[in-house]
Amino acid sequence: MRAPKKKTSPKPAARKAAAQKTSAPVLCARINDQVTLDVYDTGKVGAFFDGYGIEIGHISPAAVPHARRLSEGLPISSFSPARKPIDKEIEDLVRQLARSGLLEYRLVPPRGGAFVAIEPQMPDYWPQIAKLGNADTVVLSRFAYLRRRGSELVLESPRSPALFRIADPRIAATLAGLVSPRKVGALRQDKAFAGLALLGLLVASGILFKVDGKDEGLRAHEGDPHLVVWDFHDLLFHARSTEGRHASPLGSRYPFVGSIAPPPAVREPWPGEAVDLRPFAMPADAPASPLSALLQARHSVRDFDQAKPISLAELARLLQQTARVTSKWSSPIDFGEGPVGPVLDYASRPYPSGGSAYELELYLTVTQCEGLASGFYHYDADRHALVPIAALAQDIEAQLESAAFAMDAMGLPQILLTIAARFDRVAWKYSAIAYALILKDVGVLVQTLSLAVTEMGLGGCAIGTGNIELFSKLTGLPFHVEGPVGQFALGRGATAPPG
Ligand SMILES: Cc1cc2nc3c(=O)[nH]c(=O)nc-3n(C[C@H](O)[C@H](O)[C@H](O)COP(=O)(O)O)c2cc1C
Repeated sequence: MRAPKKKTSPKPAARKAAAQKTSAPVLCARINDQVTLDVYDTGKVGAFFDGYGIEIGHISPAAVPHARRLSEGLPISSFSPARKPIDKEIEDLVRQLARSGLLEYRLVPPRGGAFVAIEPQMPDYWPQIAKLGNADTVVLSRFAYLRRRGSELVLESPRSPALFRIADPRIAATLAGLVSPRKVGALRQDKAFAGLALLGLLVASGILFKVDGKDEGLRAHEGDPHLVVWDFHDLLFHARSTEGRHASPLGSRYPFVGSIAPPPAVREPWPGEAVDLRPFAMPADAPASPLSALLQARHSVRDFDQAKPISLAELARLLQQTARVTSKWSSPIDFGEGPVGPVLDYASRPYPSGGSAYELELYLTVTQCEGLASGFYHYDADRHALVPIAALAQDIEAQLESAAFAMDAMGLPQILLTIAARFDRVAWKYSAIAYALILKDVGVLVQTLSLAVTEMGLGGCAIGTGNIELFSKLTGLPFHVEGPVGQFALGRGATAPPG
């Protein structure tokens, strides 16, 4: 008989690892507080919120007990990465609930207490934890910010696909300490260390980033050279003022009905004696100038004649009149003491543009145009040509449908013009005002298009929102490199039904 093995205590390293394991916070998926999840024995899943019930779908009866745990928090490691078919079912359910804004993730300390909640801001968000070692150095992104939302503290960034609700003020203090790069090993010595998992989540979300020790100055590229030209407020404005990269309610929701009186259509007059301009008005019987006739005739057209689409010749004329490059030249930068800087290229187009930047590009989603195949195109304003871009039919469809929805239109526009900006063209030159200038340029181009379509007997309508992530899918361009800043539905207007 072999002598029983002497019991030995685990090696110090193994003990440390085991201790770390039990003291590590747990990442869970959990239904939002305002939502009730109903998982029936049959596998039918439904959710209730705001007095509404929606059907989510079906899961196998074996997955039911796991799905029910989503109400108090189901550890992600219990189903992902998937080991069994029901794991995949649960992951699909979690993703679907998150996509519908019904679910959040939580990083829960092992002994309970203040947790960090992770609210997905983009439909495909899945919590990723970047691997970090003691030798890694991390620092806060200059796009990250902490703010009060109601009675909560939230940590956000226009780069991040998720928002972090911070309940423990010590985490806020740790973040404040990360305005300068710090080694992970040193952070772990802090009494209030929030754990490697949180650091890893924040690195994967672009709220923290790893530095390689070299001083990159105030404008570190944060792993993406295209970020350098962006001012903080401009990137935030771009990400938060349209669809695609945040989960906040958006559009004409009338949020202040009942609490604030509707502002008047026309401003209250200033006190004081007014200079009456009416005596200078054109006589009512005087012939209108072509411009005033055009201005008077312009109106938004949201429904288009399905039987008589716009033609390629009309489209070509419209683009030539409004957006074509009309001349090009180069000139060195002049800082006020004569031309000294690098030589810059300029181009002219029929509409004015701040600093002659002409950063706006037109992309066309064509459903109906006689002589032109349906699809997605870029207008090459220099060559006056349309270049097809291979895009997924489902993304094209989604873009057109969201435009029709924004206009409350009966059908799709014949052509949807997406006005995209090459942000660096403006931000390379202008500090603080770059994004505002771009939006002003959009207004100018939209009015130019509106007048031109009116003059041509066509119709069009500006659209106030666009999905910047959808455009990114269509073009493959990241949201901060070239992205939509305006849209214009175009076609031959439907004649109003008689009566
Ligand atoms: C910047 C901007 C955004 C607009 N967004 C939308 C929109 O999303 N949906 C829509 O139906 N109309 C939109 N419009 C059109 C306006 O509703 C329209 O110009 C306004 O009601 C005045 O009507 P008119 O253009 O026929 O004179 C937009 C117009 C502008 C200038």
